[in-house]
Amino acid sequence: MPDATDIFELRLARSASDLWPMLDALYGADPRYPAMRDALLSEMRRAWRARPAALKTLDLQRDLEPDWFQRPDMLGYVFYIDRFAGDLQGVHDKLDYLSGLGVTYVHLMPCLKPRPGDSDGGYSVMDYRKINPAYGSMRDLEALSTALRARGMSLCIDMVLNHTAKEHDWAVKARKGDAAHRDMYLFFDDATLPRAYERTLIEIFPNDAPGSFTHYPDIDQWVWTTFNEHQWDLNWANPRVFLEIAKIMLFLANMGVDVLRLDAVAFMWKRMGTRCQSEPEVHMILRALRAVTRVCAACVLHLEEAIVGPAEMLSYFGRGEHDGREGNLAYHNNLMVQFWGALATRDTGLMSHVLRTHFPENLTNATYATYIRCHDDIGWAITDEDAGALGFSGAAHRAYLSDFYEGIFPGSFARGALFQANKTTGDKRISGSFASLAGLERALAEGDAHAVDLAVQRMLLGNALIASHGGVPLVYMGDEVALTNDYGYLGRPEHCHDSRWIHRPAMDWDRVAAAMGDPDSPQGRVLAGTRHIYARRKATHALHGGFACRIRDTGNPAVLAFQRIAPAQVLVCLFNFSEHWQTIPGQWLRDQGMTRGHDALSDGRIELPDDEFPLPPLGRVWLS
Ligand code: GLC
Repeated sequence: MPDATDIFELRLARSASDLWPMLDALYGADPRYPAMRDALLSEMRRAWRARPAALKTLDLQRDLEPDWFQRPDMLGYVFYIDRFAGDLQGVHDKLDYLSGLGVTYVHLMPCLKPRPGDSDGGYSVMDYRKINPAYGSMRDLEALSTALRARGMSLCIDMVLNHTAKEHDWAVKARKGDAAHRDMYLFFDDATLPRAYERTLIEIFPNDAPGSFTHYPDIDQWVWTTFNEHQWDLNWANPRVFLEIAKIMLFLANMGVDVLRLDAVAFMWKRMGTRCQSEPEVHMILRALRAVTRVCAACVLHLEEAIVGPAEMLSYFGRGEHDGREGNLAYHNNLMVQFWGALATRDTGLMSHVLRTHFPENLTNATYATYIRCHDDIGWAITDEDAGALGFSGAAHRAYLSDFYEGIFPGSFARGALFQANKTTGDKRISGSFASLAGLERALAEGDAHAVDLAVQRMLLGNALIASHGGVPLVYMGDEVALTNDYGYLGRPEHCHDSRWIHRPAMDWDRVAAAMGDPDSPQGRVLAGTRHIYARRKATHALHGGFACRIRDTGNPAVLAFQRIAPAQVLVCLFNFSEHWQTIPGQWLRDQGMTRGHDALSDGRIELPDDEFPLPPLGRVWLS
């Protein structure tokens, strides 16, 4: 019988080629590297010895069932602890609610100790080993992870890799002049290099935090601050940064965290003359970090957050030599953008083109995190090349979508808010809740029952899409009861500059009760419909994330079509993005292998007509 030490050594051998060659290439020339390598290995052994028995069992179980996160019963729910349940203790009382939705994966929005005051929604972390005191303690997190595990739910938390708060102990020491700590960040004596880098950098928060560097007069130094002034970029070229962050990740893994959401990973490596995004070294670092957790906490997944264009995004699963060795999960930002694009244009041409040309039908050891809304803005990640392939201008299309979802384009159903409009590039991003962007807020204000119905159908269309595309669908808190925009942020000094708070409302539990009590209300229909969609997903084996997703052309531009190809079954998923009835040739369905009509989504029989197959306004089916 192998003992725990044998298991560690076997796992180390399994992942050695993902770890040491990456570190050798990244840090081999650094005189500090040999010591760092030794320290890393002893930390890994220590973390493994300290790992609780229940988690070691889960490690083994997931080693034996490596597709556990690709299965159709996976459903994520994403929320702010305070806005959903008050604090970590309060979350326990909400677990029945989450179970009722079918949730098997819970993402607590940033919960590690943030800097005081504005902390970019918690993404400005001053202590990675403590919980935000307003939410509770590490012990509370551990207790929650145990409770979740007992229900078969996994726990995801944010781990910010690109920067720390300037109040983090390392940053405080760096500011005081300690050389070793200065080297953990990117300090410059004058503006020469910052200006040179800025020639090719893209501004992330051009309105609130222009530029990517901050000058501190007290020390007369420039510091690299890609995001906000209080978020200091880490120097990943320093092996010590790798070591310290790896230690923290193992610490969190031993608290029972199943999924580490690695925040803002694209920015981790800087290279003069580039955008300093998604540089090759980023992938080497991420592959090595994954190897570290795979050895010492094998059940843990890495969800990589890189909100970038289509081709660039795929690299976060590992492409080429890294294939299947980097992120287990990465956000399918493009599916989300294309969903909103197709809803506005009532045309799925660009969506089909992008999904077909850039995304492979299968991923290795990985799947997408699919979503329609999250806590961030929507950036119109549509390239000029992709727009051009369909014969229109990328810039004009992006501007159109922005106006449409801000709600100022004539005839728009949406209500949203601008986020960080960039006057230099003309780039405009959008904030807004799922329900408001889908038309519910405007329809209710105008008392237009038909428009309300359409908004409800748009929300169910989006859920049916992310439930079936392949990936772990993530429901964002409150979207299941159609919470509309929260304008209260405008009155809060710490939030009023950041329109993303428009779609970060407090959970409205009265609304939930009302939705449950009145299934015919718009909110009740969204709630019942959402539950139904994920229950049907769970019952539909062909939706396993390991099976291919093949985009098809139906000949009707209003209808998106893809096949989910399981060994003994092909599912044809159809989505009508228009507010009118649409048809698909019956022969087209037969050509896809449809012989008898069963809709896995409604779980009902469907007639396969000889001539045209009808789809209602915003209708969706999963035909088998
Ligand atoms: C990620 C987060 C976003 C945050 C940024 C900086 O993109 O999702 O909310 O502002 O990282 O940490």
